[in-house]
Amino acid sequence: MFDIKKIRADFPILNRKVHGKPLVYLDNGATSQTPQVVIDAIVDYYTNYNANIHRGVHTLSQEATDKYEEARIKIQKHFNAKHPYEIILTSGTTHSINIVASGFAAILKEGDEIIVSALEHHSNIVPWQMLCEKTGAVLKVIPINEDGSLQMGVYHELLNNKTKLVFCNHVSNALGVINPIEELIHAAHKFGAYVLIDGAQACPHVKPDVQELDVDFYVASAHKMCGPTGVGLLYGKEELLNMLPPYQGGGEMIETVTFEKTTYAGLPHKFEAGTPNICGGIAFGVAVDYMNEIGFEAIATQEDKLLQYATEELEKIEGLKIYGTSNKTSVISFNLEGIHPYDVGAILDKLGIAVRTGHHCAQPIMDFFCIPGTIRASFTFYNTLEEVDELVKAVKRAQMMLS
Ligand code: ALA
Repeated sequence: MFDIKKIRADFPILNRKVHGKPLVYLDNGATSQTPQVVIDAIVDYYTNYNANIHRGVHTLSQEATDKYEEARIKIQKHFNAKHPYEIILTSGTTHSINIVASGFAAILKEGDEIIVSALEHHSNIVPWQMLCEKTGAVLKVIPINEDGSLQMGVYHELLNNKTKLVFCNHVSNALGVINPIEELIHAAHKFGAYVLIDGAQACPHVKPDVQELDVDFYVASAHKMCGPTGVGLLYGKEELLNMLPPYQGGGEMIETVTFEKTTYAGLPHKFEAGTPNICGGIAFGVAVDYMNEIGFEAIATQEDKLLQYATEELEKIEGLKIYGTSNKTSVISFNLEGIHPYDVGAILDKLGIAVRTGHHCAQPIMDFFCIPGTIRASFTFYNTLEEVDELVKAVKRAQMMLS
């Protein structure tokens, strides 16, 4: 049974006030809030078994190592990867993408082609541009339609034997649009191209099965899935992770080191140089358990209700325009005619409502719509219909004050 009161009680921050008003947290696309069970896991780690992992014979180190590796297995199971060592624990989505981009610098040649979508976050554009600069590869872009959906016909035309890599987000962070990743992957594979899917905005809402998707690389961040910041994952098929060179040199990622020659450790350690975010990794595992206990079907039901109600109510406001209307997760990106999104965001904050304003690290999307940015309300399972009412009231008030 989905008990919203009980769920909200899991998140202590939801009780706080902002500017004397109850917090209405609608910036879940930027980061989700943290349930008590995850906070407890962080406190437990530093209180009881803080130690470096994979290094010591002492008890604390062994306990920390066991918990860290247990977390990797939880994450492996969650994403249905074939092996635990196909899960590389990173500092987050951006780090994960950069591992793959930097690895392909040793593999791509001049004239090879890379396809990205026009819906990408800067973190899924800039690393590929840097890769193109290094290798002479050429970046091609799948354009979007007015409703925010990808022009899939153009994608199919862009694919050819020179295409080596395709990158796309599973869900657009700026608009919430869900992309047809199955079709993207299947079509790319026909040309022998590898596909990386940025799942940062999808994983709070859905549970991807990387084997069923047959995706080559899938990346996400813990902090959008009720976990802490500074930790995320890179899933890669075993043979592809083995094919890529290490990203960073250092401790932990080696097998043997001499001044003449160093040999590298196997997976996953080859990509995990240095002391990792041990506590973060363990807490990520706890967050994954927490979300699975709530259940992704229940999460989707609650979020669909919020999205539908908020869309209906916001659309009643004259001069309000929503960007991205195609198949979506619970994100509404909108503007009020003649008013800068930042000004609306500042008034909403004074009323206790947290939204993100600006270009959302996705400037090409804003350029497409010829706007400086949007106001983005991103809902999650612990939000309520009453909070939607507060948002709608506050938007109307902001419009009155700023017109
Ligand atoms: N990528 C995060 C967002 O969309 C920070 O807000």
